[in-house]
Amino acid sequence: MFFWVNQLIFEAIFSSYILLYLEKKICRTLLTINSKKMKTLKDLFEHQLKDLYNAEGQLIKALPKMAKKATDSKLKKAFEDHLEETKEQKKRIEEICDELGIKPSGETCKAMEGLIKEAEAFIEENPDEDVLNAGLIAEAQRIEHYEISGYGTAIRYAKELGMDKIAKKLVKTLDEEYHADELLNDMAEKRLNKKAISQEQDK
Ligand SMILES: [Fe+2]
Repeated sequence: MFFWVNQLIFEAIFSSYILLYLEKKICRTLLTINSKKMKTLKDLFEHQLKDLYNAEGQLIKALPKMAKKATDSKLKKAFEDHLEETKEQKKRIEEICDELGIKPSGETCKAMEGLIKEAEAFIEENPDEDVLNAGLIAEAQRIEHYEISGYGTAIRYAKELGMDKIAKKLVKTLDEEYHADELLNDMAEKRLNKKAISQEQDK
């Protein structure tokens, strides 16, 4: 009797393992079928566009938090202005994807996820006011530099694929990213880094 019960338990555990394994295998197969393999530069271009689309979406959620935390009024305004620009940039990618006949969704930009997590971790450190403003600029510039790199690559691909109209749209976004970066640079160099230095001297 004891042996029989033991065997039943063993069989139950064994079959649930088998079921779990099969479930995982089926899921993986379905994922492979659904995700189209990239074969050409156009596929890569579309992949990059989706990545940028997701990155802009993540930034739209993060910028209001950064604006709320900034205690310098000009920095707060820079974040708020860039939020509006970012919404337009996201729409621009939607228009481009529409022209290409593809959906802009479907990718998660892990790099932007990481950059935003880092910015959040910095805020959670609860630094002194002036250090917080200087640090928020640093975090935002990392994000801008990432976007500048992403759009630069996308523009090059669009040009190489003969999509000049699309390249032009992307150049507009790239110019906005450069402008946002320069603005942050100016604020850091001319005022906010110095304020953080004087906080150090006050101690
Ligand atoms: Fe952007």
